[in-house]
Amino acid sequence: MFTSIKGKSVIVTGGSKGIGRGIARVFAAQGAHITIVSRGEEGAKSACDEINSLGGKATFVKCDVSDWDSVKAMVDIVAETQGGIDIMCANAGIFPQKKIIDMEPDEWDQVMATNLKSAFLCVKACIPHFERKRRGRVILTSSITGPVTGFPGWSHYGASKAGQMGFLRTAAIELAKYNTTINALLPGNIYTEGLNDLGPEYFDVMAAAIPLRRLGTVEDIGNAALFFATDEAAYITGQQMVIDGGQILPESIEAIEEI
Ligand SMILES: NC(=O)c1ccc[n+]([C@@H]2O[C@H](COP(=O)([O-])OP(=O)(O)OC[C@H]3O[C@@H](n4cnc5c(N)ncnc54)[C@H](OP(=O)(O)O)[C@@H]3O)[C@@H](O)[C@H]2O)c1
Repeated sequence: MFTSIKGKSVIVTGGSKGIGRGIARVFAAQGAHITIVSRGEEGAKSACDEINSLGGKATFVKCDVSDWDSVKAMVDIVAETQGGIDIMCANAGIFPQKKIIDMEPDEWDQVMATNLKSAFLCVKACIPHFERKRRGRVILTSSITGPVTGFPGWSHYGASKAGQMGFLRTAAIELAKYNTTINALLPGNIYTEGLNDLGPEYFDVMAAAIPLRRLGTVEDIGNAALFFATDEAAYITGQQMVIDGGQILPESIEAIEEI
């Protein structure tokens, strides 16, 4: 049994839907106080209502994670209202699909700012609060796309997610001074409400390429995040965990057709 995270102050960027909402639910079920962060208010309020109606504690702070002033203000508000910050889940991200030949330079910049620069901004804003508590945890949501695999239309996305891994390794060394760890989740194909429109055929095709024969759930990612947040994971830093049902393992289509 792991040490409880009850009462910890947890920020989940992109917590209004998808994986972030799942991470928020998992942490809230363990008694943590969740701050849901997103630009839009509607989804975030519904995520808070869901958690609060189940007896958890969640509040919403609006923020654009690609903007320093917005991130700094958000982190400072959370620290003031929740008595500090214990865990930062830097999860918000975008994944517009555009082939290199069609991509405009500002589309590249927007993905980099939302997915990669945001990791730096979230960590930077939290450092004074981790220093004060002499403890902290940062959990980045990266992806298998970029650090491990590629997919047409996601050159900017893959670069941003691989860039997070480069950031992670140096950040781990710098954050050690504040008794703070930073680790990354690398999800494979995770079922989120945003994928609903793609239809059952899409899910069947995706599942066929995964040894465990199913897409991941947002709770699969939330549980991995929870492990990195525990006291028992205190000696793990600068590491990445792939959560993909074995998706990256087959060396060829034949390898998966054999099973
Ligand atoms: N779903 C997958 O299969 C999968 C696989 C691997 C990795 N991931 C990663 O997991 C993370 C979450 O993905 P998801 O599928 O859950 O995405 P999603 O359902 O589209 O949710 C994205 C979340 O990020 C927020 N967000 C986007 N831009 C933001 C900004 N500039 N400032 C603040 N919040 C922002 C969104 O809220 P607003 O739009 O209201 O701001 C929303 O809450 C991403 O980093 C993604 O790259 C996902």
